[in-house]
Amino acid sequence: MTDAHPVDLGALPRDFAWGTATSAYQIEGAVDEDGRAPSIWDTFSRVPGAVDGGDTGDTACDHYHRWREDIALMRQLGTNAYRLSIAWPRVLPGGDGPVNGKGLDFYDQLVDGLLAAGIEPSVTLYHWDLPQALQDRGGWPERATAEHLAAYAGLVAERLGDRVTQWATLNEPLCSAWIGHLEGRMAPGQADLTAAVRASYHLLLGHGLTAQAVRAAAPGARIGIVNNLSTVEAATDSDADRAAARRMDGHVNRWWLDPVHGRGFPADMREVYGVDLPERPGDLATIAAPLDWFGLNYYFPQVVAADPDGPAPYARQIERPGVPRTGMDWEVDAHGLETLIMRLHEEYASPQIRITENGSSYPDTVAPDGTVHDPERAAYLTAHLAACARAARRGAPVAGYYAWSLLDNFEWAYGYDKRFGLVHVDYATQRRTVKTSGRHYAGIIAAHRAG
Ligand code: FCB
Repeated sequence: MTDAHPVDLGALPRDFAWGTATSAYQIEGAVDEDGRAPSIWDTFSRVPGAVDGGDTGDTACDHYHRWREDIALMRQLGTNAYRLSIAWPRVLPGGDGPVNGKGLDFYDQLVDGLLAAGIEPSVTLYHWDLPQALQDRGGWPERATAEHLAAYAGLVAERLGDRVTQWATLNEPLCSAWIGHLEGRMAPGQADLTAAVRASYHLLLGHGLTAQAVRAAAPGARIGIVNNLSTVEAATDSDADRAAARRMDGHVNRWWLDPVHGRGFPADMREVYGVDLPERPGDLATIAAPLDWFGLNYYFPQVVAADPDGPAPYARQIERPGVPRTGMDWEVDAHGLETLIMRLHEEYASPQIRITENGSSYPDTVAPDGTVHDPERAAYLTAHLAACARAARRGAPVAGYYAWSLLDNFEWAYGYDKRFGLVHVDYATQRRTVKTSGRHYAGIIAAHRAG
């Protein structure tokens, strides 16, 4: 330790990216302004019962109009990096076809604003908001969607690539494929194993094609993919639970890690799913496009038991009593973050690792004096940053941390009830209030800078 700080700040590189993260649909609002067309989330959020409270992203944090204020908040936190996503249906309302100039203009201005504030943008090209027009043509289970993603990405990179270096192709394809097409809890709300496996394949193909398209349009681009990984442990020592843990590890980790690292799709999981992959010659090489960095989103560990009658992968997460949990009911286990960073480093030799999301939801309230006191979120942040620093001390190339999230926002199927922000949003007035955790993060960043 270089000082008495609970985070071994000296282990983190001098040019560490101290960031926050958001995504387009969760914060922008303005869903029918300036030529934007609906995405699958506009559609899904209108399905009765799909989203808690019947919430939609129609207004969200009104970031589309308040982005200058939001950049000022990032400055107040002292961050030097920001992970945002581009809304595909703003740029190409039909999914392919004519470009909507106003859509691109919005991100152009935003990028300029960030750079002027000394904040490096990291752009995610696909954070779940597929243009509804492409869903109507079959969506991710269709190969053409992967090709359309790459074409859209190339357009964006042509426009922004002179100023943006950090690009992520996909955010958490696991959620798009497994939660959106197998569990049906997210857009497009399907529950069909064949569709889900095909979607997973085309998402990864789309990643590879997008990497090529972005590199062609912006030769200096540094390309990554963002995956949410979990540590997986068997609930008991029984053979059945250990096999279940192996399947869950395949489902949430290896299925997403192996192909992009040139290892193909895990054979054991192909057998578990029993669905033919829509493979064509050359696809695996495309999917294994070289990665400049790996984006790790980490929220919780999984402890699993066999579930032969459940859906694939026939394993279910069990609740351990007495373990601290966030407002999402997710277990808090900072050690898991260190374990996953070391796995990426040791098993997959990731050249650079960025923690592209990590954070916690708690039911925050505004006190009568106008402050928002969230000590649990501050503690969560410290513990997870300490885990990053331990991994860095052990030699892992940890290059950045993007707290989820800058703002409270539309938490997908949970609507606005779940708050992850370092900054509180009063949705009735759009008033922003930096929480205790936001000030705490600013303090850590300042201490690293001073160190
Ligand atoms: C991740 C998503 C992100 C946010 C957090 C809480 O799975 O990528 O958009 O909703 O969870």
